[in-house]
Amino acid sequence: MEKKFNRTLVTAALPYANGGVHIGHLAGVYVPADIYVRYLRLRGREVLFICGSDEHGVPVTIRARKEGCTPREIVDRYNRIIKDSFEGFGITFDIFGRTTSETHYELASQFFRTLYDKGEFVEKENEQYYDEEAHTFLADRYITGECPHCHAEGAFGDQCEKCGKDLSPTELINPRSAVSGSAPVLRKTKHWYLPLDKHQAWLQPWITEQHKEWRSNVMGQCKSWFDMGLQPRAVSRDLDWGIPVPVEGAEGKVLYVWFDAPIGYISNTKELLPNDWERWWKSEDTRLVHFIGKDNIVFHCIVFPAMLKAEGSYILPDNVPANEFLNLEDRKISTSRNWAVWLDEYLKDFPGKQDVLRYVLTANAPETKDNNFTWKDFQARNNNELVAVYGNFVNRALQLTKKYYDGIVPVCGELTDFDRQTISEFTDVKSQVETLLEEFRFRDAQKEAMNLARIGNKYLADSEPWKVIKTDPERVKTILNLALQLVANLSIAFEPFLPFSSARLRTMLNVSEVPWDRLGAIDLLPAGHQLGEPSLLFEKIEDDVVEAQVQKLKDMEAANAAANYRANDVKAPIAFDDFEKLDIRVGTVLSCERVPKSDKLLKFQIADGLENRTIVSGIAKHYAPEDLVDKQICFIANLPPRAFRGIESQGMILSAVNFNGDLSVITADREVKPGSEVK
Ligand code: 2FM
Ligand code: ZN
Repeated sequence: MEKKFNRTLVTAALPYANGGVHIGHLAGVYVPADIYVRYLRLRGREVLFICGSDEHGVPVTIRARKEGCTPREIVDRYNRIIKDSFEGFGITFDIFGRTTSETHYELASQFFRTLYDKGEFVEKENEQYYDEEAHTFLADRYITGECPHCHAEGAFGDQCEKCGKDLSPTELINPRSAVSGSAPVLRKTKHWYLPLDKHQAWLQPWITEQHKEWRSNVMGQCKSWFDMGLQPRAVSRDLDWGIPVPVEGAEGKVLYVWFDAPIGYISNTKELLPNDWERWWKSEDTRLVHFIGKDNIVFHCIVFPAMLKAEGSYILPDNVPANEFLNLEDRKISTSRNWAVWLDEYLKDFPGKQDVLRYVLTANAPETKDNNFTWKDFQARNNNELVAVYGNFVNRALQLTKKYYDGIVPVCGELTDFDRQTISEFTDVKSQVETLLEEFRFRDAQKEAMNLARIGNKYLADSEPWKVIKTDPERVKTILNLALQLVANLSIAFEPFLPFSSARLRTMLNVSEVPWDRLGAIDLLPAGHQLGEPSLLFEKIEDDVVEAQVQKLKDMEAANAAANYRANDVKAPIAFDDFEKLDIRVGTVLSCERVPKSDKLLKFQIADGLENRTIVSGIAKHYAPEDLVDKQICFIANLPPRAFRGIESQGMILSAVNFNGDLSVITADREVKPGSEVK
């Protein structure tokens, strides 16, 4: 039986307050959520839109340590930056709260305590790394060491960034604490686990049978978790930043950030509506919808519902429209490498152009698969769609009305077949957009809105009022009346998607509100209505503007690499004897040439004080061969010979690796006899 809902509670993932927000966040979660909420409001539905910052977790403490300040200072700063960015883009949360609020601490502790008292947790003791110098247990990210798979140094306790493999801290070779640098020891510690294995029995049919309508990417992930079999998940951590575990004997332990964060949706609602929040969270006629990115699926579809069910008094989500990821210029967005378009930067660089980004991100929304943002595409969509289609139509209709009728809406006379055909093309736009939005198909819904503008453009182009005015001025009144009705329709249809432009358009039309209900009507503007002053709705974006943005991306990434560059952690100590086994020498480069068909390799003839030798080295991208001739370089002289492209290399040339990967050959500071030893 179809459920009858009387209100909709929309949540958008709480962004971590350890950094700003970028276009990936906007495209994945906040723009679609905002479109949806705006649409529901326009339809007069009762709706709440809840968000806030996620302020606990290890990344916050890492950032604080790096910057030499407290976690509190970090989250205060980023809560503000994130909130302002979202406001700048017209994301209309009813509240943007915080998981460090008193309300949240209280509610999250209570939630944990209820589950604890009901016996919904399993207590387990296990061994975890402890830093004896810093007197603290170490989060996985705080332990580094050699990767057991690719043997890179500096792998983290949860992942090796070199080979990408997931790790657990005990797999690391020679683990080190990132806090003190000492070697951590394993110590016993107790934690509370949510036994998801026990919840699978109801979770699985609830999702796979009762929510067949969930997006296929969401369903796919859930099914694969079920296939693997759900495992108990720890909901506490040994950490000094978070909500203390409200149980005796749990000193020094806090709630796991993924336990407290989703409770943030509830506590933020409570913060907003202290007396009415339960109606939103505990009535079966509330429809709960979580907007998230794909990396959050398991927490929102499996873990949080299990928590809610275990607690017993809350409703469960009705849908979780998760998006895939947005790439940037064909590469994964990376906050650590600073490969991102930050929202606060965009707002500074493109004042008044929030809707352009909203439009492009929806047109390219990663709804069913990962998608790509490029500045070229941004420019093309702005120039070829917003300017050439939407803006152009609006401008022509308004300018012609100004020119012929002093900006007064002319009377609509008798309709021709062509008029009727045009009208029939757009009268069902309302039901089309509605159906698509109800199905969370935002890209297609926006396309339908744009289609209205295309219809308008075609109508003006085909009916040619600028020509007809000379032969049949009465007819032009009807043409422009109809065109203006279409313009008014556009202001309604685009309202959920491009709210800033709709507001400007209403000013140009000199109307206050145009209700959603009237979308598709042809009597939105009465004859005789005085329009406002027309101006351009969108502006062309030139090549140099987007080229500068691409350059800015590259510059930001390079500056970030330089700032973060730290010589790799020193390798584990070796015996002096081992060092003495290496024979490093200085040789003079007699000749140097490219190895045919290789863009990496150079072939050297080196005077080494003996019979000269050939060495092949992979530095062709960093040097022109002629620049190295006569240089006195350092090489390892006692390695076994190796063949590269059929050339036997008798040694290895030593280079320094700059932070950005550039190589610089090591040379002798003063001239020495070829073959001199390096000690
Ligand atoms: O992935 C993230 O950015 C998390 N901070 C999302 C949390 S969503 C919710 F559970 F609060
Ligand atoms: Zn590795």
